[in-house]
Amino acid sequence: MAERIGILTGGGDCPGLNAVIRAVVKSATRLGWETIGFHGGFEGLLSSVSFQKLDHREMGALLTSGGTVLGTSNRGRFAAKTGHGETQTIAAEILDEAKQNVDALGLRALICVGGDGSLTIAQQLFEHGVPVIGVPKTIDNDLEATEMTFGFDSAVACATDALDRLHTTAASHNRVMVLEVMGRYAGWIAAHAGIAGGGDIILIPEIPFSYDAVCRKIAEREAMGRQFTLVVVAEGARAKGGEFVTHAGVVTNREARLGGIGAVVAAELGERTGKETRVVVLGHLQRGGGPTTFDRLLCTRFGARAIKLVQEGTFGYMVALRASDTVAVKITEAIGRLRTVPVDGDIVETARMLGISFGDE
Ligand code: F6P
Repeated sequence: MAERIGILTGGGDCPGLNAVIRAVVKSATRLGWETIGFHGGFEGLLSSVSFQKLDHREMGALLTSGGTVLGTSNRGRFAAKTGHGETQTIAAEILDEAKQNVDALGLRALICVGGDGSLTIAQQLFEHGVPVIGVPKTIDNDLEATEMTFGFDSAVACATDALDRLHTTAASHNRVMVLEVMGRYAGWIAAHAGIAGGGDIILIPEIPFSYDAVCRKIAEREAMGRQFTLVVVAEGARAKGGEFVTHAGVVTNREARLGGIGAVVAAELGERTGKETRVVVLGHLQRGGGPTTFDRLLCTRFGARAIKLVQEGTFGYMVALRASDTVAVKITEAIGRLRTVPVDGDIVETARMLGISFGDE
């Protein structure tokens, strides 16, 4: 019987998941291995096991398509994280059941594609005897041990496109336009799109802002004859001494649904400056659709490298991007703490050199 490997996609979806699946299946097929894909993330590992055989001849459209053909979930019996830095231990009977099913299917390896939460689950499966390989995914780009996760570039492209569009309408009406983008604990999307899209003010979780400073920047622009301002705010940004704004308007620092900071900022700026202010929440548009060229390539490299790790038997490792190369790092190096935007790093410095405000000066 041919060797067999499994793959699953966990956590929130993002552009490029299908491209990873394609790369894994194509690379595995060339080695004579069969690949099965589990449905609904880790839940597919539990009885009655839900999976499908993945045929390399049916992978064509996956390079460019959004979402995940396998489905995903970040809730359910495998939920291993509840909030920032908090990890729950998955019940031993759940891990046992998954391990038994992996063994019964004769899997040589289980490739787990996911972010911090999913890789935390993957690590616990590994410690339970499942031969796991991780592939780092998240539009937030906040995973340690890799210079970039796939999905991030696609999300930035979407946010930058939104800013380009908002630019012309903001300028036409002399308005303050606030764009709320994703980024729970890390402001990578806001920072990169804010710079690439010509934003004037970028508010990120790493740098608590003050409304006085934001208004000063708007006034400074007006004094220079610029009657409009583009503000990019990450969903996890907070005013100094403030809290996360959640979707329901409730304040919490748990893993709740964030959202709403854009409207709060827009209302406050409108009140303080007397300028017409509008808000756009980009939301899941950033997660939908196909991957950019960069992400297609990164996903393909990650998928192929994952198969290489299976070949070598390097389990408990995750593929990562370092100095432009794909390498293997221990999953434990990637989980447990998030990679945030360094406040004195190159990205923030570049923005400040251009006169972009982070609302802190
Ligand atoms: O972690 C990725 C992410 O898109 C965050 O930026 C966002 O807060 C969260 O997922 C949204 O998750 P959901 O789609 O489950 O509401």
